[in-house]
Amino acid sequence: MTSKVERLRVELGDRAYEILVGPRLIEGAGREILPLLRRRQVVIVSDETVARLCLAKLHESLSEAAIAHHTVLLPPGEETKDLDHFGRLAEEILAFGIERGTMLVALGGGVVGDVTGFAAATLLRGIDFVQIPTTLLAQVDSSVGGKTGINTRMGKNLIGAFYQPRLVLADTDTLTSLPRRELLAGYAEIVKYGLIRDAEFFAWCERQGNALCALEPDPLRHAVMTSCRMKSAIVADDEREEADRALLNFGHTFGHALETETGFSNRLLHGEAVALGMMLAFDFAARLGLVAAPEAERVRRHFEDSGLPTRLDAVGLAGTPADRLIAHMSKDKKVRDGRIALILPRRVGDAFVMKDAPIDALRDFLGEAE
Ligand SMILES: NC(=O)c1ccc[n+]([C@@H]2O[C@H](COP(=O)([O-])OP(=O)(O)OC[C@H]3O[C@@H](n4cnc5c(N)ncnc54)[C@H](O)[C@@H]3O)[C@@H](O)[C@H]2O)c1
Repeated sequence: MTSKVERLRVELGDRAYEILVGPRLIEGAGREILPLLRRRQVVIVSDETVARLCLAKLHESLSEAAIAHHTVLLPPGEETKDLDHFGRLAEEILAFGIERGTMLVALGGGVVGDVTGFAAATLLRGIDFVQIPTTLLAQVDSSVGGKTGINTRMGKNLIGAFYQPRLVLADTDTLTSLPRRELLAGYAEIVKYGLIRDAEFFAWCERQGNALCALEPDPLRHAVMTSCRMKSAIVADDEREEADRALLNFGHTFGHALETETGFSNRLLHGEAVALGMMLAFDFAARLGLVAAPEAERVRRHFEDSGLPTRLDAVGLAGTPADRLIAHMSKDKKVRDGRIALILPRRVGDAFVMKDAPIDALRDFLGEAE
């Protein structure tokens, strides 16, 4: 890999922070974190899989910078985002004798990032934290924007806080060990930015997507940077999701229904559900005459070329009763006053919020979706 690291500043007033993207960032983590510390003590939170791959390097880097560090390891997987695990994590962190100046460091995918961010937002009424995302999804999506949270039996991410990190270190070297399916799930979120905001970036994905997924350094860094830039610009304008930030949920309401149907299990990864959700959004918009059919076909072609799912039967969900999917969609957090709001495309690179989707047409469409 080349040694080029790019920096991006997220403009959020006195909570502004930097995102660094490139190789060997874990090796330099101590040096980057040191100037942000009010106390030379950090608590690293990671999962067992990521710890095996990256923790030694992080320990070494913190030790070189003379930063005292403790570590808490969580089991890998979405189950770790529940209240029980969170309770234990909070007690373990407190047992290290942390103070307001202690920094948490989230080393892992979106699960570790969300849980650690929520711990940072709540322990001692708020302490600083740094994100070191190690999945593509976490590098291009979950580590940026300040949403933190945990799941409850009533649904995903229902307890949480908007809480910004002090720094994000997206070390692209970590992605070499990521299973291909996880990599593609992250790629779906990258493509999403092109589809909602930037037709040129989607065209770039059509040309460079395969090189990116083969982890070629330049396309990879460009895609992670572009995604972080777009997400952080949207978040800077609308931190608490009152307007434009909702566009980031493109594909998510359909996707959420599919994830609910598969019990948020490994059968369907979040990014795969989002890919299917985006395809459904294009097909539904084409059915309503809001987008030209060739645009939907163009998206399908790119997903197929990349290895992303485009059809419900590919994940065993064809034939799911439409009413059941609509019921799941109605429980999505984005639903207001019992109406289903959908993010729909006008064309590649331009999406909008339809506040009150026509339910009968939606039912017919989902009933026929294959
Ligand atoms: N906060 C937000 O804005 C936001 C946005 C999108 C998603 N999310 C959340 O993110 C979570 C999903 O994140 P995710 O897809 O990163 O899942 P994840 O954190 O569960 O990671 C996926 C798997 O990959 C493993 N892994 C992580 N890094 C690895 C590496 N470098 N090499 C090999 N294996 C590695 C993990 O141990 C895990 O088993 C969900 O809980 C979702 O709700 C949050």
